[in-house]
Amino acid sequence: MPKVEVVKDYKELSEHVAYLIKTQLDRKHDATFLLPTGGTFLGAYDIISHARPGTYDFSEATIFNLDERLGTPPTDPHSFQRYMRKNLIDQINVKPENVHLMDGSVMSPERNDAYCKAFDRMLGERGVDYCWLGIGGEGHIGYNEAGSPFGSTTRVVDFSPRTIEDMLAEYDNDASRIPTKGRTVGIRNILASREPTLAASKGKASAVYMALKCKPDRSCPASALQTHENALFIIDEAAASELLVSAAPS
Ligand code: PGA
Repeated sequence: MPKVEVVKDYKELSEHVAYLIKTQLDRKHDATFLLPTGGTFLGAYDIISHARPGTYDFSEATIFNLDERLGTPPTDPHSFQRYMRKNLIDQINVKPENVHLMDGSVMSPERNDAYCKAFDRMLGERGVDYCWLGIGGEGHIGYNEAGSPFGSTTRVVDFSPRTIEDMLAEYDNDASRIPTKGRTVGIRNILASREPTLAASKGKASAVYMALKCKPDRSCPASALQTHENALFIIDEAAASELLVSAAPS
């Protein structure tokens, strides 16, 4: 079962995530990271970005990211490329040649197939040490939505209605502008990492509960982490609330 660490709130969550990333870098200077976007990690990325130079030494590290919205080029303010560059990559000393961000371009089926296979191959050749994950309201990791096979690899996926709904505010409530597909690493890629760590804060209590307490099943992709011997969940009290209720004596 994944180890679970509960911290007080979002601030402590961000500090703890940043601290662990520093520990991972100190332990392995040339570590390979698979990193997420999303609101959960903004706090940690902000701490890393504003740290004293040298605190987080990414000079030998490699960074991949998990996923991208399809049809959002890097210049699109809603693209994950933009998010990653603005909130982390441009603020740290990682070498440009060691940064591999998922391409969100719409491609022909043949090109897409070749692109996804090449991404998988790169991940496999480098070997991912540290995979960091957020969790969707219905338990997605990366953009592996409910129903994703645990053996899935990099591919294009359709967004669930919940994922689209969760993007509404970001797109000024204009559903017609929201991408309906994404490109994501698969669950197999995530499980191939040495240490997958999922962080969650408010709004994710049910998803965290399902991920940890339900039998591993594709209906909750994050439950796949139960099958990994080094998986860790770092969650704040809000995200742990359903676990705490189920653990309370009756
Ligand atoms: P969030 O997204 O960090 O913005 O909550 C996580 C996710 O959907 O994977």
